[in-house]
This record gives sequence, C-alpha cells and structure tokens, in this order.
Amino acid sequence: MGSRHFESDRIADTYVRVRPRPPRSLIENVMANLEKSLKKEANGRWPLVVDVGSGSGQTTFMMRKYFDRVLGCDISSAQIRQADKLNKYTNVSFKIAPADSIPVPDESVDLITASECVHWFDLEPFYVEVDRVLKPNGVLAVFGYHPIPAKCRVAGRSSLVGHKLEEIMDQTIMKLYDSHDWNRAPIDLLLCRYETLPLPYTHSKRMDNIYRTYSYAAQNCVEYISSLSAFERLNKEDPQAAKVFITDFEEKLKDILMGDDLSLKIDVTFEFFVLFSIKK
Ligand SMILES: C[S@@+](CC[C@H](N)C(=O)[O-])C[C@H]1O[C@@H](n2cnc3c(N)ncnc32)[C@H](O)[C@@H]1O
Repeated sequence: MGSRHFESDRIADTYVRVRPRPPRSLIENVMANLEKSLKKEANGRWPLVVDVGSGSGQTTFMMRKYFDRVLGCDISSAQIRQADKLNKYTNVSFKIAPADSIPVPDESVDLITASECVHWFDLEPFYVEVDRVLKPNGVLAVFGYHPIPAKCRVAGRSSLVGHKLEEIMDQTIMKLYDSHDWNRAPIDLLLCRYETLPLPYTHSKRMDNIYRTYSYAAQNCVEYISSLSAFERLNKEDPQAAKVFITDFEEKLKDILMGDDLSLKIDVTFEFFVLFSIKK
C-alpha cells in the first residue's frame, strides 16, 4: 500500500517547515519503554535505531543522543534528499528504502520507530521485516498525530476565533479526504488514532493524549494543508482545482482573522499517540 504522495520536492520542502515533530515527552516515554526491555550499552546508549518512513527526519534527528547509530529510511527520494541536506550529525544517516526492506542485518536493531506513516504501509510484509531486524526484546514504536488540530488559539482574540479556526481546519481537511475516489483505509486508520491497527507482538500497549503546540503563522496553516497527501493527489490530478481549493481556504482564514495578514500567529495544538509492540 506504500504511498507515493510524498514524492515531490514541493511536498518534501513544505514538510520541513510545517509538519509537527513529536513532543520530547513522547520520545522520552519511548526510551523509558525501551529501557524496560533492552539494556543500554556501557556508554549509556543503545547501538541502533531505525526510523522507517522517516520523511525529512522529523523523528530521526530526535533519536541521535540515545543511539550510537540512527538510520532513517523512506521510500521517497525527495524526502531523503531533504533529510540529507538537514543532516549535520555523524551518527545519523538516511537511505531510500521501503518499509518492508530495511537495509540492516537480522536481529541488529534495538528500536524501530514509524511516525505518522504506518497507515501507508503494507502491514504484513512490514511486520515480517520488523521481526527479521529487531533483536529479541527489541521494540517497535508506532506513533503519529491526529491530522486535524485539537486546538487553535490567537493571542489577544476571543476563544470564538480559535473555535472558528478549528472548525475551518477540520472542514477543509475532511473535504480534502472526501474529495477523491481513493482508498480511504489509510486515512481512516489515522483518523481513528490507529485504534484498529493490528500489532505484530502480543506484548503491546498504547499511550494517548500527548499534546504539542506550535506557533504557526496563518500562512503555515495554509502550507500544512498543502502538505497533506490528499492535497498532493488533488494537485497532481487537477492543479487548477488545487489552486482554487487552497485560495478558498486562505480567504476563509482571512475572514476569521478579519484581515489580510497571514503572518498573524496562531497557536496550533496537535494530539499525538504512540503504540508499542515488543518482540518477546
Ligand atoms: C506523513 S509522512 C511522515 C514522515 C515523518 N515520519 C513524520 O513523522 O513527519 C509519511 C512518510 O512515509 C513514507 N512512506 C510511505 N509509504 C512508505 C513505504 N512503504 N516505505 C517507506 N516509506 C514510506 C512517505 O514517503 C512519507 O515520507
């Protein structure tokens, strides 16, 4: 099912600027769970983490202080080009690779992370690969964020303005998802916060209600919408319709904000969730 809606340089570039990164508390929680399962080396780190569907490294770079070696893999060459450009760390590297063909030896990986991407994978071959590369007691941590912001707030404006922004983001994103004749299963899996996602091992658990707030310029909200896979698809199928769609969203934002200034800051809060599955 691997998605090719993240291939363009436009989307990879927008990703770097506006896609949310997991909160530090989520990463610390992942490490606490890994520590219960696998001991660190004498240097206080684990040997290897692989971040599959790494995009431009949103999660990959956050792993660098916990592991000797960090490998980010993504099926999209545009995403890996961006990740390579951003990479300043000697223990972090990126490779173009699909989730079901991770370029590492058997039983060599302590932790596999998959952030905001597992809904695009073919789960059966992915889990076969996870089982091949994870060490015994190794951990798969699948996480993501709900694509529709949980909360919006504009400093100095009434909470009604925030609610209107939440409503318009929700409506715009759902309209995009509904506008295609495409396989909705991946998006539905994400929208239900992976509640129905099967996991490879019986030792599994989940954690919810983790939040991170970003200070976005209103223009970043427009870019966020344009970074969604559904928008990329519309843009490929009908660039004119995509332009009309995004201009319409900009106009609605201006109406709510009562002005043309799309540099106005909005606090946008995203909700994250994480699922663990441990190879016992
Ligand atoms: C929504 S992005 C998430 C990127 C990043 N992990 C993050 O947290 O923002 C989904 C990523 O999954 C990648 N992807 C989709 N199908 C894939 C597959 N079968 N194997 C590897 N990567 C895949 C896409 O190219 C894209 O970069």
